[in-house]
Amino acid sequence: MRNKITVVGAGFVGATTAHWLAERELGDIVLLDVPMTESMPKGKALDLMQAGPVLGYDTHITGTNDYADTKGSSIFVVTAGLARKPGMTREDLVSTNQKIVTDVASNIAATSPDAIVIVVTNPLDTMAYVAYKVLHEHGFDKNRVMGQAGVLDSARMRTFMAMEFKCSVENTHAFVLGGHGDEMVPLVRYSTVAGIPIPDLVKMGMTTQERVDAIVQRTRGGGAEIVNLLKTGSAYFAPGASVAEMVEAIIKDRKLIRPVATYLDGEYGLKDMFFGVPVVLGGAGVEKIIEVELNDAERSMMNKSAELVRGTMSVLK
Ligand code: 2OP
Repeated sequence: MRNKITVVGAGFVGATTAHWLAERELGDIVLLDVPMTESMPKGKALDLMQAGPVLGYDTHITGTNDYADTKGSSIFVVTAGLARKPGMTREDLVSTNQKIVTDVASNIAATSPDAIVIVVTNPLDTMAYVAYKVLHEHGFDKNRVMGQAGVLDSARMRTFMAMEFKCSVENTHAFVLGGHGDEMVPLVRYSTVAGIPIPDLVKMGMTTQERVDAIVQRTRGGGAEIVNLLKTGSAYFAPGASVAEMVEAIIKDRKLIRPVATYLDGEYGLKDMFFGVPVVLGGAGVEKIIEVELNDAERSMMNKSAELVRGTMSVLK
């Protein structure tokens, strides 16, 4: 029996996630979008199936507008929601996506009560919280609901590190914690090249503090940089790949340690909110939260980022 993985939202992020998932043959994929999109998800699904013979995967991909087809999914990826359009306030975006994510979560609870849910919809930490509140009422524990952001944000930082140090991305490791916003927290002290922490690389004369600061800033603005370049929409290749890595960690029970938006209940001094922290990802979802030691400067960055997330949460109805 193959796993069933449902991706809600067949837009660029949803379809690209399905693409990376299909190549990894982690299970069969259902691509769902609202009835208004009519046969569009079916079209993308069939197109992805037809890449199978060329790329050598046997993944079945189906498109639908009906949650009945998602029944029994082991994983749900939620990409549904609006992106901010010109003239739209942050409050408008929060309340529109709150309605969408609430509806999706209710449908997940009804059709796949054993699923693990990965939220990708923005504003990320707040939408993961919205999904969790609905799902928790239906018996989902906090380990089974999470938000994707830290994998993407860390991947962006790793890209910039590899560019700076002219090394393989495989040699880089980065921990970007906090909320998925301008105040996210790239932890330089815990970011390494071939195991060497960045501050040591500065001491060794391999880079300068100014250049490290620039990497941090570029990481924080990573999503906006892509939006500005694309002009119509936001990133989808790296977000999709990041989700696929998380799905794989869960399906293969890899115990992969990554920053993930998870429900905090006192960890890092924060309570009743979703926030990006290092976790162990395995078959049960978020199996453990790792509390790394923070210095005063890092803690104050975490608190500032948490305040920003709380500000967004205060718009929730
Ligand atoms: C990103 O960071 C928009 O959250 C999305 O690219």
